Amino acid sequence: MRKVCVVGASGKLGRYMVKHALDRGYEVVGVCRERSVPKLAEFADRITIAPGPTNDPEVIQQAVAGCDGVLTVLAPWGVRQYSSGTAQAVLDCADADARLVFSCGWHITRDGLDQYSWRFKATVRLVTWLARAVRAVEIDDQVEACRRIFASDRRWTVVRGSDLEEGESQGLPVWSRHVGDPILASNLTRRVDFALFMVTALADDTLIHEAPAIVGRQTASALAHAT
Ligand SMILES: NC(=O)c1ccc[n+]([C@@H]2O[C@H](COP(=O)([O-])OP(=O)(O)OC[C@H]3O[C@@H](n4cnc5c(N)ncnc54)[C@H](OP(=O)(O)O)[C@@H]3O)[C@@H](O)[C@H]2O)c1
Repeated sequence: MRKVCVVGASGKLGRYMVKHALDRGYEVVGVCRERSVPKLAEFADRITIAPGPTNDPEVIQQAVAGCDGVLTVLAPWGVRQYSSGTAQAVLDCADADARLVFSCGWHITRDGLDQYSWRFKATVRLVTWLARAVRAVEIDDQVEACRRIFASDRRWTVVRGSDLEEGESQGLPVWSRHVGDPILASNLTRRVDFALFMVTALADDTLIHEAPAIVGRQTASALAHAT
């Protein structure tokens, strides 16, 4: 890894990823909405900022040119296929051999073998319905974005985050292929460590074509099942 692009750099997860990437000495290009550029002020003299909608192929084309890795925050905002448009632009425009790492939540399933609690399923259903009703968030479009990624032969990883909290890093999260596996039971990860997992995945070829579900390495379930 020499040069990486962070798509959705101005959000909380995005800014943590920018920081981890800079700490590793990578050259960083950050894409964010024009109005959010000031949120990247602390990095302004160390990264290249590409302002624009992340689902605009022209914006993405310019930003990802020459990047060895692309980290993409799949945000289900709005009702204009923002997530799937962003994923498609990255899949279409990134360099042929680039490592592509996308973020989403546990509700995304790759092979249908995840085991969700009734409470989790009810919450996702309720949030999907409510969010669509107020036309603020399109959870189904994040599902569509991931369907396209899973069908692609690019060198992708989809990192599925548990519930998130702020706080000091606890180190690299642990992961499992399926929600419902005991190691994931604590369902909590520090956001800074979600970002760490995303950035670390860029250089971990064992994660290519995987959709790891992650949990904080200091959580009770991780400690109990780490061996
Ligand atoms: N929040 C959770 O509990 C949770 C749990 C599991 C997984 N995840 C995953 O983690 C990732 C980051 O989520 P997050 O909740 O932590 O949020 P976040 O890091 O703050 O990122 C939100 C992103 O959405 C963009 N955004 C916000 N409002 C928008 C709008 N109206 N139109 C277009 N873009 C908009 C933000 O850009 P601006 O800076 O321009 O606003 C930012 O890039 C997502 O992939 C999510 O699925 C989150």
